[in-house]
Amino acid sequence: MPVSSSTTAKVYLDSNRVISPISPLLFSGFAEHMGRAIYEGIYEPASPHADARGFRRDVLAALKELNFRAMRYPGGNFLSGYRWQDGVGPRDQRPQRRDLAWQSIESNQFGTNEFIEFCKEINTEPMLGVNMGTGSIQDAANLVEYCNAPVGTQYADLRASHGYRDPHNVKYWCLGNEMDGSWQIGHLEAEEYGRKAREAAKMMRWHDPAAQLVLCGSSSSEMATFPEWDRVVLEHCWDQVDYHSLHFYANNHRNDTASYLAYTAEFEHFVDTLSGILRYVKAKNRSKHDVYLSWDEWNVWYKATLTKDTQGEWKTAPHLIEEVYNLEDALVVAQWMNVFLRKSDVLKIACLAQIVNVIAPILTTTNAMLKQSIYYPFMLFSRLASGTALDVAVKAPMYQTTKYGDMPVLDVSASYDEAKGAMAVFIVNRSQTESMSVELNWQDRAPSMINCLHQLSGSDPKAANTFENPNQVVAVEVPAPTISDKAATISVPPLSFTVVEAQL
Ligand code: AHR
Repeated sequence: MPVSSSTTAKVYLDSNRVISPISPLLFSGFAEHMGRAIYEGIYEPASPHADARGFRRDVLAALKELNFRAMRYPGGNFLSGYRWQDGVGPRDQRPQRRDLAWQSIESNQFGTNEFIEFCKEINTEPMLGVNMGTGSIQDAANLVEYCNAPVGTQYADLRASHGYRDPHNVKYWCLGNEMDGSWQIGHLEAEEYGRKAREAAKMMRWHDPAAQLVLCGSSSSEMATFPEWDRVVLEHCWDQVDYHSLHFYANNHRNDTASYLAYTAEFEHFVDTLSGILRYVKAKNRSKHDVYLSWDEWNVWYKATLTKDTQGEWKTAPHLIEEVYNLEDALVVAQWMNVFLRKSDVLKIACLAQIVNVIAPILTTTNAMLKQSIYYPFMLFSRLASGTALDVAVKAPMYQTTKYGDMPVLDVSASYDEAKGAMAVFIVNRSQTESMSVELNWQDRAPSMINCLHQLSGSDPKAANTFENPNQVVAVEVPAPTISDKAATISVPPLSFTVVEAQL
C-alpha cells in the first residue's frame, strides 16, 4: 500500500466495547541489585538528599509520582546467585560478596527488610523473587516463612529478632528469573525448571496459601526455545501458579526510526502467541484454573551494550547500562503501554525494567536527579489509565516500514472508569513529518468535557534530557477542545504522544 498523504484520522470510542478491567499491576516496576539501581539510586546514605534510613528523598518523590503498584526485587540475573540470608539482620554482620551476574561487589547493606520499608514508603506492593539458580526449594520456602509466617518458628522468629514482629505479608512471588537463558546462574532446561518450580511453589504455598506465584516464561520472543519452553513449564506448573512471565527489551540498532516506532506489531505478536499457549495448556491439563501474563521486564535497552556495560569489574555500585532515553524511545514506551491496555484481558502485571539509573526513567548523581523522556508516558498511563480498557476503532493513514510492512500512523488505546467518572485516550503519532487532525467520536455517552490534553513531542527523535538541559522532552499541557455533538477534534504533531483526559 502506498504511503498516504492524508493528515486526518478518526477514533471511535464506545464504552460498551470493553476489552477487560485494567489491572492496576500493569503499572509496576523492577529494582535489581545491579549497577547503581539500589546503591546510589534508591539508597545512598552519603547523599545530601538521604533521609534517616539512607533512602534518597528526591528519588522517592519521583517514584511516588510514577505511582508503581508493585515492585519486583531483587533481580534479574542477580537473583539467581542471591542468598537472601546475606541481606537481613545487623548491617555490620552482613557479608560482602562477589556478584557473579554483574561481576560486582555486593555489600548487602540493602536487603529484604529495607526493600519492604522502601515499598511502604512509595506505597507499592512488594513482588519478591526466589532464587531458582543456586537456591534450593528449601531456601525459597524459608524466605516465605521469614516474610509471611507469624512468630513462633525459626525463620519468623529470625524476622522478629531483626525488628519486624509482624509478618510482611508479601503477596507476589517470582519463581526465579529468566531460567531459560544460558547466561543465567544455574540455568535449567525446561523440564528441569518446570519440576523445580512446581515443587518450590508447593512448599511456598504450604507456608502461605495466599501467595500469588509467577512462573518464568521466555526471556524474549527471540529465544530459540520460545515458545516450547513456555508450553513445557506451564504444563508442569499450571495449577500451582497464577502468572506466567515474559520479558522483552526493544532496540533501534538499525537506526530505522520508522520501523522502531511500529514495534507494537512485535509486542502484540508475542502476547498473542503466549495467550494461545495459555489456552492450550489449560485445555490439555483439563483445568478450571486460569493463569495470566506478567510482563515483568520491559523497556528500551540497546545503546548501553551487553558486552561493554554489564561487567562491573568487581566494583561496588558500578555504572552499568545507564541508558539515555530520547524522544523516539518515549514513543515506543507509550505504544508499549497502549498494548498493555489492548491486551488487558490476558496481561495483568507489567514491570518497567528498571526504575533508577539502570535502564531507568530516573538518573541520579549524588546531588541531583534527572527525569528521562520515558518518565512522562509511564507517569501519564499510571495516573490516568483506570477502570476498563476499550476496544477502540481507528481510521488512520498507513505508512511503510521495512520491518513490519504497512502500519497505521496512529497507535491508540483508551480507558473508561465509570466509578471515577473519568476516561482517557492515549494516542501516538508515529509519523516523523505529518501532523494529524484526529476526530474523536463517542459512539454512546460522550464525556462532559476534556479536562486536559497532555502532549509530549519534538522534531528530533534523538532529543534527550540531560542534567544541564532537563526539559528537552517533557509532557506539557496544551489547550483542550470542547466536545460538541459527541465529537472533538485534536491536533497531534509528528513524533508525539497525546493523552486526552476527560471527565464523564
Ligand atoms: O534488567 C536487566 C537484566 O535483563 C535482568 O537482570 C535480566 O533478567 C534481563 O536479562
